[in-house]
Amino acid sequence: MTQASSADDRAQEFANDSLADGSPTAWFDRLYDAAGRGQAEVPWDRGAPHPLLAEWFAQHPEEATGDGRTAIVPGAGPGHDSELLASLGFRTTAFDVAPTAIEQVRAAHPDSPVDYQVADLFELPTEWQGAFDLVVESMTVQSMPRDVRANATAAVRSLVAPGGVLLVIGGVLPADHDPAYGPPWRLTRHEIEAFGDDGLALQRIDQDAEGNRYRAEFRRAR
Ligand SMILES: C[S@@+](CC[C@H](N)C(=O)[O-])C[C@H]1O[C@@H](n2cnc3c(N)ncnc32)[C@H](O)[C@@H]1O
Repeated sequence: MTQASSADDRAQEFANDSLADGSPTAWFDRLYDAAGRGQAEVPWDRGAPHPLLAEWFAQHPEEATGDGRTAIVPGAGPGHDSELLASLGFRTTAFDVAPTAIEQVRAAHPDSPVDYQVADLFELPTEWQGAFDLVVESMTVQSMPRDVRANATAAVRSLVAPGGVLLVIGGVLPADHDPAYGPPWRLTRHEIEAFGDDGLALQRIDQDAEGNRYRAEFRRAR
C-alpha cells in the first residue's frame, strides 16, 4: 500500500474525528483553519494547478482560450486550478464547502476575477445547473466516503452545459487498496465511468507517466 506522508496522516486524523461525528465534510474547514495557523498542512496543496489539467490544455490548445466561456471548479480548495482557468479567459466560478478555504483563497488572490463561493456540492444553486462549458473536478468526489458517491457524481455532472466538457482528475486506485480506507476513497473504473450518463459521454481516460493519477474527459451532447 502507498506510504502516507505525515501531512496525509494528520489530514486522516481530522477526517476520522469528523466522520465519527457523522459529517463527511466538516473536517475540511478544521484542516484549512489549522493550516492557516501553521498547525497543519493541506496535503493536496501543490502550489500550482494540477499537472494533468495543465497537460490537458497543452494537448488541446483549441480549449486553452476561454474567450468568455464559463468554467467551474467544485471543491476548489487552494484555487490553483480556478486561477489557471481564469488566466486562460474562462469566466470562472469556484466553490468549496469549507468557508475557511474560500476566505484563504480570496485573501491569496485579492484581485482575482474568479467568483469564489462557499457552497455544498449537495445543495447547488439551481442557476448552476447545466451552466458551465468546462467543469474541472479534481479530487473532490474521491475526498468523500463511498456512501455519498452516486449523489456527488450526479451533482458534478449536473453542472455541465450542452456541448460542455467535464474533466475528472483523481488518484488511481491501487490493486491492494482497502475500499473502506480513506480519505481519499479513490474511484473504481466503474465509478469513473458513472459520470458518463444523462447525455455525457466518456471520451478517454489518461494516466500520468507513473500511473498514479488519471484524467477522465467527458463531453455532453449539444
Ligand atoms: C482533496 S481536496 C481537492 C481540492 C482541489 N480540487 C485540488 O485539486 O487541489 C477536496 C476539496 O473539496 C472540498 N469539498 C469536500 N466536500 C465538498 C462538498 N460537498 N461541496 C463542496 N466542496 C467540498 C474540500 O473542502 C476540499 O477543499
